[in-house]
Amino acid sequence: MNMKVDLCGVTLNNPVMTASGTFGAGEEYSEFVDLNRLGAVVTKGVANVPWEGNPTPRVAEVYGGMLNAIGLQNPGIDLFIERDIPFLKKYDTRIVVNVCGHTTSEYIEVVDRLADQPVDLLEINISCPNVKEGGIAFGQNPKMVEDITREIKAHAKQPVIMKLSPNVTDITEMARAAEAGGADGLSLINTLTGMKIDIHRRTFALANRTGGMSGPAVHPVAVRMVYQTAQAVNIPIVGMGGIMNADDAIEMILAGATAVSVGTANFTNPQVTMEIVDGIRDYMERYQVKDIKELVGAVHDR
Ligand SMILES: Cc1cc2nc3c(=O)[nH]c(=O)nc-3n(C[C@H](O)[C@H](O)[C@H](O)COP(=O)(O)O)c2cc1C
Repeated sequence: MNMKVDLCGVTLNNPVMTASGTFGAGEEYSEFVDLNRLGAVVTKGVANVPWEGNPTPRVAEVYGGMLNAIGLQNPGIDLFIERDIPFLKKYDTRIVVNVCGHTTSEYIEVVDRLADQPVDLLEINISCPNVKEGGIAFGQNPKMVEDITREIKAHAKQPVIMKLSPNVTDITEMARAAEAGGADGLSLINTLTGMKIDIHRRTFALANRTGGMSGPAVHPVAVRMVYQTAQAVNIPIVGMGGIMNADDAIEMILAGATAVSVGTANFTNPQVTMEIVDGIRDYMERYQVKDIKELVGAVHDR
């Protein structure tokens, strides 16, 4: 039985990855998870310099998930290269670095710094709803998506996966724009913009007022967007959004994802990624699927 997948020319031992921002650079989870058994670790977003993030409170629980407005707090590329890449290199897993910035030149600075690093893939976050400049400002305008993708591709030494926002009218427009700019792959979905109000204090639950919604409630939206995107482009897709177990991961693969990322579920069950790897294998045995590629986009009308 083959669980290996090819993601933009990089072979993953299986399709299960972690979602950026929910798994650090793997170190906090290494006592719960055998990192060697993950297809890839996707790191927390990293910028050219350290970012403090937004004021607190910056997370809140909501029905079927959570809101966050972390604001991409990160240690900056210097410390990341010194500390996080050597940590991850100890494991037999692929390394995907999530990159964030306020301007195109900030993204490019990070991409340039990573050029000679042992990093397998870059995931470019143009879809964070919680930063005022950069982030989502890029991800909601097809022209900007195409332009920033092209500029990053001109510098990147690793394959480039553009991470798309669900906070748009037509996800396929953004997907096609990234493909036109030369993206090697796409990942989706980032969080959906939401709001929670504390009725007793009559205040916003998050200091940022709005936050990004993630968790099981967003899963059907994510599956629909992955399906639509897979119909619209010819580059591989990393599917994410509310994957809580192997069934959810398989659903995403059937919708058209080559690999999946697991985010919020790690917070309630730090071993969930291992259970998902095992659960996908059980499903393949049960239905005599010899190669996981047979499942990618295999959904059909009843
Ligand atoms: C606390 C938190 C922090 C996040 N930080 C990042 C980030 O730094 N970069 C990024 O591209 N996405 C970030 N995300 C979005 C996730 O990677 C993922 O796209 C989203 O949460 C949907 O997946 P999930 O429902 O499995 O969590 C973050 C999500 C959460 C909950």
